Amino acid sequence: MSTILQNDLLIKAALSQQTERPPVWMMRQAGRFMPQYWEIKNKYSFLEMCKTPEIAADVTMLPVDLLDIDAAILFSDILVTAEAMGGDLSFEQGVGPRFSNPVRSAADVERLDVDCLDKLQYVVDAIRVIQQRLEGRIPLIGFAGAPFTILSYLVEGGSSKDFKLTKLLLNNEPALAHRILKKIADVTIKYLNMQIDAGVNAVQLFDSWALALSWNDYRDFSHYYNTYILAHIKRSVPVISFCKGSSVFAPMMAEANPDVISVDWNADLKNIKQSLPQGIAVQGNLDPFVLYAEKHVIKEKIHQLFERMRGENGFIFNLGHGIMPDIPFDHVKYAVDVVKEFRY
Ligand code: CP3
Repeated sequence: MSTILQNDLLIKAALSQQTERPPVWMMRQAGRFMPQYWEIKNKYSFLEMCKTPEIAADVTMLPVDLLDIDAAILFSDILVTAEAMGGDLSFEQGVGPRFSNPVRSAADVERLDVDCLDKLQYVVDAIRVIQQRLEGRIPLIGFAGAPFTILSYLVEGGSSKDFKLTKLLLNNEPALAHRILKKIADVTIKYLNMQIDAGVNAVQLFDSWALALSWNDYRDFSHYYNTYILAHIKRSVPVISFCKGSSVFAPMMAEANPDVISVDWNADLKNIKQSLPQGIAVQGNLDPFVLYAEKHVIKEKIHQLFERMRGENGFIFNLGHGIMPDIPFDHVKYAVDVVKEFRY
């Protein structure tokens, strides 16, 4: 990491240092709620956008230019690692991600390629273009999907409501599940290190669907591999660990030693923060549905959260999960402005 950041609020908060206000960024901040996203999306497929560094950079910069946000997040998807490993990935309008060759048998697992990092070179190129455009104004967050969440897409062949096939595999064939998870974890370590070497200023591990698991299964099939990843990536930049289910799993997540735990909207953020070891920051945790509401409600709910967090170092404002595509753009902008006007 070479450039000195002009706005380093996110890095300071991630390292539990004092800031004059919480930094703000939002999961899915470069996406479909923005008319400017559609201008680009109408010309290219989602995967073309991810794989063309100039376009990925254009989309990454949208919330930087239009929302004046405190951090950019690389425009990509958590499933690109699964694609590089051999998953035949497509994104269909209204359907979401699809793998035409789901991983369900021992032979399928053998075929998963762990020497696939060269296929993700476009991410390195995108990071370089984005950092040239950011010119050190704000940090760039890189990311990867956590092994359990990636496994669920590979096994189900796409999104799932109940993770039935995933849970059948964990219960009936745990050894096979562990072979998949280990392969994904090894790729994820190399992939995150590649992003760190390319110049991202922080990384976030997304374990979006951990919420589906019981305490014991979370420990064995998710937490174990996230711990392994956090122990093997370069810790030269802050690491944010996100999972839906963090309201429950936070004590275990802390054992993996992240710099920040990103919390869903169920928990009281201050209670979570105070239950964690010193030096672990929290990120969150506004219910994204609040952003549909009238502006005075948005302001009240953000201030409610801030009043709770007053006096706590190590707090990054974010949503409990991603922005929905039909949230009005001016509501998102308003929320960012409310955060930026606040002072501790
Ligand atoms: O946050 C950002 O702005 C950065 C970009 C980003 C995307 N996906 C863009 C995207 C990030 C960080 C992700 C991560 C991701 N992808 C997660 C973890 C975060 C989370 O929300 O839990 C998951 C589970 C995925 C898998 C995925 N990708 C799904 C389920 C979908 C369909 C989503 C839907 O709402 O229909 C995607 C597609 C996707 N990823 C889009 C975007 C902007 C929409 C693509 C389009 O324009 O059609």
